[in-house]
Amino acid sequence: MIEQIESFLKEAEKYKITSALELEEFRLKYLSKKGLLNTLFEEFKTVTLEKKKDFGKKLNDLKTYTSDKYQNFKESLDSTSEGLKTDLSLTGEAIKLGTRHPVSIIRNEVVSIFERLGFTVSEGPEIEDDWHVFSALNFPLEHPARDMQDTFFIQKTPDILLRTHTSSVQVRVMENTQPPIRMIMPGRVFRNEAISARSHCMFHQVEGLFIAEKVSFADLKQTLLFFAKEMFGSETEIRLRPSFFPFTEPSAEMDISCNCKGKGCNLCKYTGWLEILGCGMVDPNVLDFCGIDSTKYTGFAFGMGIERIALLKYQVKDIRIYFENDVRFLNQFKPSI
Ligand code: PHE
Repeated sequence: MIEQIESFLKEAEKYKITSALELEEFRLKYLSKKGLLNTLFEEFKTVTLEKKKDFGKKLNDLKTYTSDKYQNFKESLDSTSEGLKTDLSLTGEAIKLGTRHPVSIIRNEVVSIFERLGFTVSEGPEIEDDWHVFSALNFPLEHPARDMQDTFFIQKTPDILLRTHTSSVQVRVMENTQPPIRMIMPGRVFRNEAISARSHCMFHQVEGLFIAEKVSFADLKQTLLFFAKEMFGSETEIRLRPSFFPFTEPSAEMDISCNCKGKGCNLCKYTGWLEILGCGMVDPNVLDFCGIDSTKYTGFAFGMGIERIALLKYQVKDIRIYFENDVRFLNQFKPSI
């Protein structure tokens, strides 16, 4: 009897396990309910008293050895890919989808609205010279934007600076293309402003430009009305207020109707209107500076801040949160294409 257990032990020692299947066979043979160990323990009950001690000891050796061997193999198998592959009962792990940054979402939305009207996207450098940001856009020499307090200069004379608006891309397009031009220019811009809840030294803009024969202010109005309805809902109304930009004449500031429908709320500061963008008819001087015949062509331009639109659309109060990369904030924006 005792010799038999010893031979079982030797056999168990030689038993080769290389896969999950073999491990299971091992378990069935030795450790399962109907396995060898249980049978031997049954026999143990019938063993005479003087043999019990030796028998018991050998039996325990066999039990310890086989259960250790089983446990060790199981652990090493679990930690290898084979273990994972063969355990079909494991639940799948969902692949985490990232979310688009709200600024990208709004940018893509604005771009897609204007693309439907036949506009194409144009991009340009963030580091610019004075000509493309100011001079070609009819900024007088003493204009405050040309001051260090308002613009980040990288170098003075010749002036190299971070663009303060993407109108600089409009200049580049006009210099290189003859009308008809129908383009939008999304991009990052920089202004030397104190960072607060409402303003930042870096933000994003989308500007647009349409130049052809007989383009009128009515075209501008209709284009922007279409944009406002697409972006903020078909109920949206627009309002144009006279304004001033060196590069457009006449110039206007566009407001959209607030969702409170004129009742007045905190967002619109009880006016019923929200300021959204600047626009106007391209000043003939600008066309001439860029080599476009201002006696033949007219055009309109507009420009808006993406963060500002995102603030209104998502009712976020603090612009700084867009640049902090806090995933708790960013994860709230559903993935979109
Ligand atoms: N460039 C202007 C800005 O940055 C926006 C604008 C663009 C206004 C085109 C009128 C026409 O504020």
